[in-house]
Amino acid sequence: MSEVDDIVIRPMYATDIQRGFLAAIAALKPCELTDEDAVEVFRKRMRQKIMTYVAIKEDRVIGTASLLIEPKFIHSGGVVGHIEDVAVHQGFQHHGLGGRLVKFILDVCRQHKCYKVILDCAEEVIPFYEKMGFHRWERAMRIDL
Ligand SMILES: CC(C)(COP(=O)(O)OP(=O)(O)OC[C@H]1O[C@@H](n2cnc3c(N)ncnc32)[C@H](O)[C@@H]1OP(=O)(O)O)[C@@H](O)C(=O)NCCC(=O)NCCS
Repeated sequence: MSEVDDIVIRPMYATDIQRGFLAAIAALKPCELTDEDAVEVFRKRMRQKIMTYVAIKEDRVIGTASLLIEPKFIHSGGVVGHIEDVAVHQGFQHHGLGGRLVKFILDVCRQHKCYKVILDCAEEVIPFYEKMGFHRWERAMRIDL
């Protein structure tokens, strides 16, 4: 059995913060929230219908990915999926889990009848997303406030 067999991907619960959620998402960027503050952030995200998914192995979180669904005025009210914060715990990278998380989210997007799915990413992970079927499209813009 490989490192990433017997993994379940499911929507996140607040209790997943005690299952190592912050250590898993730290693969993306160090996260300095206390567990209590992270629960507050999780609740705020739930109120805003931001969907957070987790990959669980032996009752520990080893990966995560998030999804926002946006109904557009244009495109005849069509729906866009925005992928955010895909992260696999450092000890479990390069075993196929990131790919499974992205495929899982794409299935959710299909169920919501999204006509496209978009994300921003660093240059070095472009080959990862290309393997998932994404292609480069336009440019990301940012202003720091
Ligand atoms: C990027 C990340 C999510 C990929 O997850 P992973 O579990 O390591 O990736 P997988 O094992 O599912 O890789 C799937 C494919 O992409 C390739 N791949 C993965 N990471 C890659 C990278 N950084 N550069 C090039 N190819 C990569 C793998 O070789 C694999 O190809 P294969 O199927 O031909 O073997 C993970 O490495 C991670 O958490 N990185 C830090 C956080 C981050 O950068 N997240 C992306 C935010 S947009």
